[in-house]
Amino acid sequence: DIPSFPLNSGYKMPSVGMGVWLGPDGGGEAAKQMCLTALQLGYRHIDTASGYANEEQVGRAIRESGVPREEIFLTTKLPNHHHHKVAESLQESLDKLGADYVDLYLMHWPQAYTDDNKMIPYGESPTYVETWRDMEKLLGTGKVRSIGVSNFSVALLEVLLKETTVVPAANQVEMHPCLPSFELKTYCDEKGIILTAYSPLGRPKEYDGKPVFLEDADVLKIAQIHGTTPAQVTLSWGIQRGTVVIPKSENPKRMRQNITVIKLTSEDMAVIDSIHQKPGMHRSLLKFHSVSLDAKIHGWTYEQLG
Ligand code: A2P
Repeated sequence: DIPSFPLNSGYKMPSVGMGVWLGPDGGGEAAKQMCLTALQLGYRHIDTASGYANEEQVGRAIRESGVPREEIFLTTKLPNHHHHKVAESLQESLDKLGADYVDLYLMHWPQAYTDDNKMIPYGESPTYVETWRDMEKLLGTGKVRSIGVSNFSVALLEVLLKETTVVPAANQVEMHPCLPSFELKTYCDEKGIILTAYSPLGRPKEYDGKPVFLEDADVLKIAQIHGTTPAQVTLSWGIQRGTVVIPKSENPKRMRQNITVIKLTSEDMAVIDSIHQKPGMHRSLLKFHSVSLDAKIHGWTYEQLG
C-alpha cells in the first residue's frame, strides 16, 4: 500500500502520485493511457494542471478505469493567465476533467499573466495574495477539498501567511537530492504545509532527459545494498523525509517501481541528504522553475536563495 500524509485541511494525500506533464501539447491519448495504466497498477493520486493541456484525457482515464472517484486524489492547478478569474478557471478545469470536485487546487505559479499571456509586473494586481484570497473562497463551494500553492519560496510563503487566513495545504516545487531545499522543508514542516516534489528523480531541463540520480554513484551503491533500483532509492528518500513525490512515467514497469517504497536506513538518508554538496550538484535542473522565478521577482542571486 502507498502511504499517505495528513493535510492541514483534514484530508489525506497519497505520498506517490502520477505527474502528467507530457510536454506543451499535453500528450493527447498518451496522457490518457498513462493515467489509465497507472490507476490499473494501483496509483490513486494524479497530478495535472490546466497548463498541462490534458485535463480531458485525465478525466476520461479516471472514468474508464472504473476506480471510484472518491478513491482517487486528483490535483489540478490555476494557470498564470487566470489569476483574475479563479472561480471561472476552476469550473473550466472541472468541466474538462468531468469531475464535481478536485482534491487539491494549486496556484501554479505566484506570478499572474494577462489573458493574452503577458507577465504582469511583480506587485501589480492581481498579486499572489489577492489570488490566494479568491482561492480561499473556493473552500465553501464543495468544488475543492484542499487548496495550495506551487513554486513558492519561504519568502513568498511568509508574505502569504501574514496577509491571508488559510494556510496552504501543500506547496509543490522542484525537489530532489540536488535541490533538497532544507530551509523550505523546515519552514513548511513548522507551518503544517506538505511539500510535493516535482521532477523528484532529477530530470534535466530537456523534456525526457535522463534523470540524473539513476547514475549517481552514491544512489547506485544504496540501491545495490537494498537490491532495488536507483529510482526507488531516490523516491523513497523523498517520501521518508515527509514529501510527496510525483514522478512521471509512461512505462508500466517503471510505474510499478515508482510506487514500491523501500525503507532506507538513517545512514542511507544522510548520504542522499549530502549529494547536493558534491561539486556541481547543488542546483535546479529545470529551465523554468521556482528558484529562477523567485530570483527574477526579487532580483536575487542564486546564492541568496540557498
Ligand atoms: P518514462 O516515462 O519513459 O519512464 P518527471 O521529471 O517529469 O517526473 O520525469 C521523469 C523522467 O524519468 C521521465 O523521463 C521518465 O521516463 C523517467 N522515469 C520515470 N520513472 C523512472 C524509473 N523508475 N526509472 C528510470 N526512469 C524513470
